[in-house]
Amino acid sequence: MIICIAGKNNIAVDSLNFLLSFIKKEKLCVLLNKTDNFQNNWQKSLGYFAKKNKIKICNLEELYLIHDLIFFSLEYDRIIKVEKFKSNQLFNLHFSLLPEFKGMYTSVLPILKNKTQSGVTLHKIDIGIDTGAILFQQKIDISLNDSAKDLYNKYIQFGTKLFIENVDKILINNYNAVEQTHMNSSYYSKSYIDFLNIEIDFNKTAHQIYNSLRGFTFREYQLPFYNESKIYKSEILSEKSFTKPNTLIFEDDECFIISTIDYNIKLFKDYYDIFWKYCEEGDVEGVKSVLNYIPNINTKNKKGWNAIIIAVYNNHLNLVKYLINLGANILATNYKGTNLLMYARSAGKYTKDYSMFKFLYSKEIDIEWRDDNNLSVLDYAIKDKQDLLINIINVND
Ligand code: TYD
Repeated sequence: MIICIAGKNNIAVDSLNFLLSFIKKEKLCVLLNKTDNFQNNWQKSLGYFAKKNKIKICNLEELYLIHDLIFFSLEYDRIIKVEKFKSNQLFNLHFSLLPEFKGMYTSVLPILKNKTQSGVTLHKIDIGIDTGAILFQQKIDISLNDSAKDLYNKYIQFGTKLFIENVDKILINNYNAVEQTHMNSSYYSKSYIDFLNIEIDFNKTAHQIYNSLRGFTFREYQLPFYNESKIYKSEILSEKSFTKPNTLIFEDDECFIISTIDYNIKLFKDYYDIFWKYCEEGDVEGVKSVLNYIPNINTKNKKGWNAIIIAVYNNHLNLVKYLINLGANILATNYKGTNLLMYARSAGKYTKDYSMFKFLYSKEIDIEWRDDNNLSVLDYAIKDKQDLLINIINVND
């Protein structure tokens, strides 16, 4: 028996890690998505994990030929042709409550369509798109304030759990597979949403607008806009609208209030881009001026940088001290495991000013910490011949 995990993100990595706890790695292999660049980002990379754990990386042609293959698609990005496989043990974990929402964008569409439930479904792969018989399924509640990102996180969490709790039954062929019905079955293709041109229709009820906004709220991909401002959340007010829908009734630094078909709605402006820019420039006063509009100073951008990482990397010691007083996490790392001491090392590389490094070194940050390349800050300092810094570390050891 050979088990293949095909796909991406934490669900693929954590499921494979679970299999590794009781199956020899020679019996495991992976099939990677086109987007896998062997680097962890806001989700873990299956390629990075497979390489690190010396698990074979296969291509589809190799997999077609394996008779005793058990194939799991966990966010795999291509539609596979079952007839090409010698094995018929082919399974997919789809992020929806099948038969509803076959196809794409299942973190967005149930919210846009005002659903209060979704689910994760483990099913057999047949010739259609997400049409195979269902083995295991778990319902998920969608809260009224869930964004697309929140729903995606729930899919990852519940989907991984569904896999881990049931994979043993699949491996010994002990399950019922129930065909899907046509009732409530729906499908959406890639062209259904153009994320580069998201248009929110404000000529709608407050509730419809609220759903459109949270449905497109996924910071790693995009936030919705009103006028020229990014919006990170909204709130339906108790006042009824008396003016034409989509009239701007009020604006200040924090928000817009606009009228709709029924109730006024408050749209909160997103300040992270400005906040992070002030951190890059070391502008403490600027940071102070937007703090009220920053829900969490430890939020990371797409690259995994947050306020304190940006401030350390740009060598702004006063700002770093200020952020720490506000509760910034000194154990912050980016998605590749680069910690604050490593950023301070980079910052001091050309300036030869190691006051940032000395300051952080006096805090409780592990000097032995290793990043995804399995290198410590001392390893990097030795590589770059940073004698001053090597000295600081050795003297303090
Ligand atoms: P993805 O991993 O491409 O999977 P799928 O579309 O099959 O669900 O995307 C995950 C979620 O991210 C998806 O449900 C919708 C959302 N998303 C955006 O909000 N903006 C985008 O540009 C993309 C590509 C996805």
